[in-house]
Amino acid sequence: MSNYHIKHLEEYWQVYRKSVRNPENFWEEIAEEHFLWRKRWDKVLSWDFSKPEIKWFEGARLNITENCLDRHLAVRADKTAILFEPNDPAKEAEHISYRQLHERVCRFANVLADQGVEKGDRVCIYLPMIPELAVSLLACARLGAVHSVVFAGFSATALATRINDCDCKTVICSDGSYRGKKTIDLKTIVDQALEECPGVETSLVVKRTGGEVTMKEGRDQWLQPLLDAADARREATIVDAEDPLFVLYTSGSTGKPKGMVHTTGGYMVYTAYTFKNAFQYRENDVYWCTADIGWITGHSYIVYGPLANGATTVMFEGVPSYPDYGRFWEIVEKHKVTQFYTAPTAIRALAKENLDYVNQHDLSSLKVLGTVGEPINEEAWHWYNENVGKKNSPIIDTWWQTETGGIMISPIPYSTPTIPTFATLPMPGVQPVLFDENGKEIKGNSVEGRLAIKFPWPSIARTIYGNHERYRETYFSAYPGTYFTGDGALRDAVGYYRITGRVDDVIIVSGHNLGTAPIEDAINEHPAVAESAIVGYPHDIKGNALYGYVTLKETGESRDQDNLRKEINQLITDRIGPIAKLQKIQFTTGLPKTRSGKIMRRILRKIAGKDTSNLGDISTLLNPEVVQNIMDESLA
Ligand code: PRX
Repeated sequence: MSNYHIKHLEEYWQVYRKSVRNPENFWEEIAEEHFLWRKRWDKVLSWDFSKPEIKWFEGARLNITENCLDRHLAVRADKTAILFEPNDPAKEAEHISYRQLHERVCRFANVLADQGVEKGDRVCIYLPMIPELAVSLLACARLGAVHSVVFAGFSATALATRINDCDCKTVICSDGSYRGKKTIDLKTIVDQALEECPGVETSLVVKRTGGEVTMKEGRDQWLQPLLDAADARREATIVDAEDPLFVLYTSGSTGKPKGMVHTTGGYMVYTAYTFKNAFQYRENDVYWCTADIGWITGHSYIVYGPLANGATTVMFEGVPSYPDYGRFWEIVEKHKVTQFYTAPTAIRALAKENLDYVNQHDLSSLKVLGTVGEPINEEAWHWYNENVGKKNSPIIDTWWQTETGGIMISPIPYSTPTIPTFATLPMPGVQPVLFDENGKEIKGNSVEGRLAIKFPWPSIARTIYGNHERYRETYFSAYPGTYFTGDGALRDAVGYYRITGRVDDVIIVSGHNLGTAPIEDAINEHPAVAESAIVGYPHDIKGNALYGYVTLKETGESRDQDNLRKEINQLITDRIGPIAKLQKIQFTTGLPKTRSGKIMRRILRKIAGKDTSNLGDISTLLNPEVVQNIMDESLA
């Protein structure tokens, strides 16, 4: 067990050095000691970042649900695996034990198998944060089927694109969802999406809200009667370590969303190991991550990482503001939560409210506080530390990505001294490097550059579904021989990392990655719009908000601008979802362009961020005069 739980900084360095000296040995020892394999691997790692090809635990055979469920039955069958806290605070929380979860997963897997789902098939899951969501991931994994979860805030068009991209024949959805006071009619969104998805043969519908829905004959079926009739046992399908476990979409700076493919063995080992260490998880802890399972954080640190460790993982259906801004803290008190993991945007939103919402709850159970998804600003960090942690719970600022599968840079609580806004040190096995703009590695400390990783770790995504060339081009071409993250970072005098933000056209709004291209495509569909450019600008709760510069066709110029703004945001909501709506829309007579016709976003970003003192060299622009017009009419 020695290298599984890090207990102090000296030990961290010992483990880290060992992990870097011989990564294969390091991960092999962990894989050997802590997991259930049906067959041992022939080779720990083979890799070539130029192809790129990465294989961990090649030849090994396993099923991840045996690791997350079956093996716990002998030792913790009655322990709560999932603690479900519903949207409505008046409703009882549901404690689902390991035994019950095992049974629910087996039944669900049997239903999927009856519907013809086989190993390797992709299954789309579009569900709110209810237990069936976690169960459906595990049910797919039980069969060796590949889940593709789509966050249930995405629009019908976005859902259809994702279903078609990885050819799902089966969709799991619900009639509706509860979010605070609102009830959302999810089935109608699915129905609209499926009109564009000829390949979908079956949709299984969970009844959650009891709202009226249309069930399409021959395609849609209520899930519950099928579950009731299904056998409560199901042998796990044993798969190869490198067989895909799931696809999860993330935005790119251009083009359609990228279906990141994660495989089974390495992902399991890495998420379990990082869960245990980054959260210093102990057997009787109650761990809560507030993310949605529709994002990677939920996959790795609500479902797989915690369950592989036999933990109790809280699933919350609702929102932090309902019935009031004390909801998070009420839940912490009620369930005596020990580790709490959330996003900076949530912290900033809650920090704006009356402190009584925090102070009226007993938060003394907390031992570790985590953040993820975007840089945390100093003010939010201190608020979290003082008011939630009472300066007693270390904050782990965890940096990672959909592509990395698990936490890459993070303090080890109670070992690594923390500094606000610093993600601090790499997890064992992770080798960060910084590059300058010319592709030269920047060595030494007190430096800043672009962040890449120079050696594979077990949970790195293996490809983009259906587009391996895009995977190579996006992540392995900028700095050959390394994985490029798309983020900038600085390394301080002692070697701590601070992530400074994206260096590409991805904008992180409230912790959600948004590519500019798909939003601009949606805007440009408007008949009155000639052209558009989106940039991010600092926003005190969302981190960044979206600022759109839109030029109109002649026909659009006489239109009422407020109405146009509404129509544009409606188009974005329809094509992507409400998370991509623009905060500000400025109509302009032109966009600054280089002589080759490329929009100079750098300038637009500065104007949107009210930072116009130094716009840099604009003499190379084709149309420098528009810059002054844009500044004169700026909404910033
Ligand atoms: O820019 C980084 C930011 O979020 C990006 C990854 O987003 P996504 O794939 O949606 O995964 C989010 C949850 C793992 C990164 O490229 N990011 C994530 N965590 C941090 C962060 N930026 C600064 N500090 C962090 N702790």
